[in-house]
Amino acid sequence: MKTNVLAHRGFSGRFPENSMRAFREAVAIGADGVEFDVQRTRDGELVVIHDERLDYSTNSQGWVFDQSWAELRTVRLRTRSKDILHEDTVPHLEEVLGFLADHDAVVNIELKNGLIGYPDMEEQVIAALRRFKLADRAIVSSFNHASVLKVKEIDSSITTGIIFAGRLVDLWSYARSVRADALHPDRGFVDAAFVRAAQDEGFLVNTYTVNDDLEMQRILATGINGIITNFPDRLLDLM
Ligand code: G3P
Ligand code: CA
Repeated sequence: MKTNVLAHRGFSGRFPENSMRAFREAVAIGADGVEFDVQRTRDGELVVIHDERLDYSTNSQGWVFDQSWAELRTVRLRTRSKDILHEDTVPHLEEVLGFLADHDAVVNIELKNGLIGYPDMEEQVIAALRRFKLADRAIVSSFNHASVLKVKEIDSSITTGIIFAGRLVDLWSYARSVRADALHPDRGFVDAAFVRAAQDEGFLVNTYTVNDDLEMQRILATGINGIITNFPDRLLDLM
């Protein structure tokens, strides 16, 4: 079975995370899809950025929900580990979807609505996916499993995934109770037996975040559906 290479926050191993450049470069090297994170501004615009706050991946500070879109679009991205400032800015969700609509790629949207509730974010994301005709190749995932269930209740045709890091009791029945199509476990909880059992139960399995070559090889051998990585180039080379 072919394993999908999903570029985590775009090609974030070499370009600013969750930037248009990171998405373009991921698609350009042949990644099967991209994963990215969605938050919301004060004036209700959906934007693609990992943290609830700007402090760690931009040259600004404060909560995303405290910024208007006009304010946020002037903020520049920063590589958090190396403190490098880039020209790139925080993309609007529509900009990312507009780009992906023109390319044949899996669209893994992670709803970052665990810490900040962002009421009705699910409706808004689904409406955007429909507008860009991407609903049939999207996976909407979240650590917020109530939100995953809500996505399914709004549109049962959308593929959903629960993200988790841990060994859950009665995982299959739990995942079915929130109507998840896919399991997105942390890589540490993935082995061949787990993947086979999950697939036998009818779930897709996509794991995060696999950046080490040996770990890529170990997980590829499990027959997993997708690997989310900062280095889609290295994973493609290994495959
Ligand atoms: O979607 C999987 C993974 O991205 C979840 O963790 O913190 O990188 O958003 P995080
Ligand atoms: Ca994510």
